[in-house]
Amino acid sequence: FQVPTAINEPVKSYAPGSPEREEVLKQYKAFYNSTIDVPLYIGSEEIRTGNTKPMSPPHEHQHVLGHYHLAEKSHVEKAIANGLEAREKWANLTWEQRAAIFLKAAELIAGPYRAKMNAATMLAQSKNIYQAEIDAACEIIDFLRFNVEYMSQIYGEQPESAEGIWNRVEYRPLEGFVYAITPFNFTAIAGNLPASAAMMGNVVIWKPSDSQVYSAKVIVDVFKEAGLPDGVINVVYGDPVMISDTVLASPDFSGIHFTGSTHVFKALWKQIGNNIDKYKTYPRIVGETGGKDFIIAHPTAKPQQVATAITRGAFEFQGQKCSAASRVYLPKSTADEILELVKADVASFKKPGSPEDMSNFITAVIHEGAFDKLASYIEQAKADKDAEIIAGGGYDKSVGYFIEPTVILTSNPKYDTMCTELFGPVVTIYIYEDADWSETLKLVDSTSEYGLTGAVLSADRYAIDEATKALQNCAGNFYINDKPTGAVVGQQPFGGARASGTNDKAGSMQNLLRWVSPRLIKETF
Ligand code: ALA
Repeated sequence: FQVPTAINEPVKSYAPGSPEREEVLKQYKAFYNSTIDVPLYIGSEEIRTGNTKPMSPPHEHQHVLGHYHLAEKSHVEKAIANGLEAREKWANLTWEQRAAIFLKAAELIAGPYRAKMNAATMLAQSKNIYQAEIDAACEIIDFLRFNVEYMSQIYGEQPESAEGIWNRVEYRPLEGFVYAITPFNFTAIAGNLPASAAMMGNVVIWKPSDSQVYSAKVIVDVFKEAGLPDGVINVVYGDPVMISDTVLASPDFSGIHFTGSTHVFKALWKQIGNNIDKYKTYPRIVGETGGKDFIIAHPTAKPQQVATAITRGAFEFQGQKCSAASRVYLPKSTADEILELVKADVASFKKPGSPEDMSNFITAVIHEGAFDKLASYIEQAKADKDAEIIAGGGYDKSVGYFIEPTVILTSNPKYDTMCTELFGPVVTIYIYEDADWSETLKLVDSTSEYGLTGAVLSADRYAIDEATKALQNCAGNFYINDKPTGAVVGQQPFGGARASGTNDKAGSMQNLLRWVSPRLIKETF
């Protein structure tokens, strides 16, 4: 018996005229031209509560893709009861039996479901096809396959035994159920958070983001077709406060796998703390939250490389990545050249538009709330004396939530948009005196409330070394001579510290180990 070797899923090119482009466009149109009705998935039931909300593409907010049904408290309680019932059998399958389901899910996404996963993500989250392919096809496939490889290593790891005894470890799932909360911005995270806990034998209550229900539904279809038993992953949508209150009040709550905003994660953590006496076991708390990710260029960095890191790091995926570059520090000696290159690159982008037009690099931000927030920061920068907009700055929500890629230049290293997470295609640049390199590193560290990603560009090994040491706590993913985005499963396990999360690295053995409660058995002969 050998576990299949996990190799990163190749990214398809979607070149004009290619069969994959035709197929995904056909699927996009099919989804666009029909309406779906998404139920709650609880145990073996699909529950339609009748209390629904509409789903619309962010790039065309007047178009309705369908509706999803909202849970009441009783549905959440039912989901917990069904999960605990399913646990009886699920927790006692061999790990290989569970792994086989998730490997099959990866095969389904790689093959027959690829176009559906991509089209749903293009429509629901307004990603262009290249972004959708990286997220909703390759990354989720990689998470599933690599996690199976890590499972094989975890379950094979056993202690030494002295003569006359035999020590062994059972990697038991947690006693109870796991609560997964997933964000709108990655379909892969939606798949990975519930799946990684379930792979380790846990049952899950999953609450996807309201802006992700469409793609979450396709993931549910995949897991069902792959043979995931009823009740292992139960899906509820609705009022997040009511759902969390109900889940966290259960004595069987045994862990949370969260990706989302810092303030929600902190609120949940406090709630778990307040409820601690109710629980049978100390819950595992695993979360990945916000970021205020930096790029620092040393005077020796190549201007073109820095400019590309800025525009790709800040604007790909509409800047709606927790890893997106959002504050930049440039040395005075090369700043003008870099800024000209950045402006030229931004000027070469088409105006933001629908992902159906595959030549669009920038599409829409996720919803009106995000749009209004970004627009207000752009207006503020236009008004403030210590800031100026040097590229972009336009926005329009008449059809979709379109924000132009925007570059703010500030003379104030503590300017609001140098410190506040905006989660959109807006980047702020500060220029430092070359002689202040070491001071600038200290400044970056002292203004890093978050600790998710960061990049340093330099041709000077001593400068790289100094930055690596000075910034050791402010980027869980630290990139040298690259942009701070684009972590690949199996190559750059992803996560950060400080206000960015518990740094349990998505797509790692370390993460899977959070979902087991090992039992050591010592037998004496
Ligand atoms: N894991 C994603 C990235 O690295 C968020 O860009």
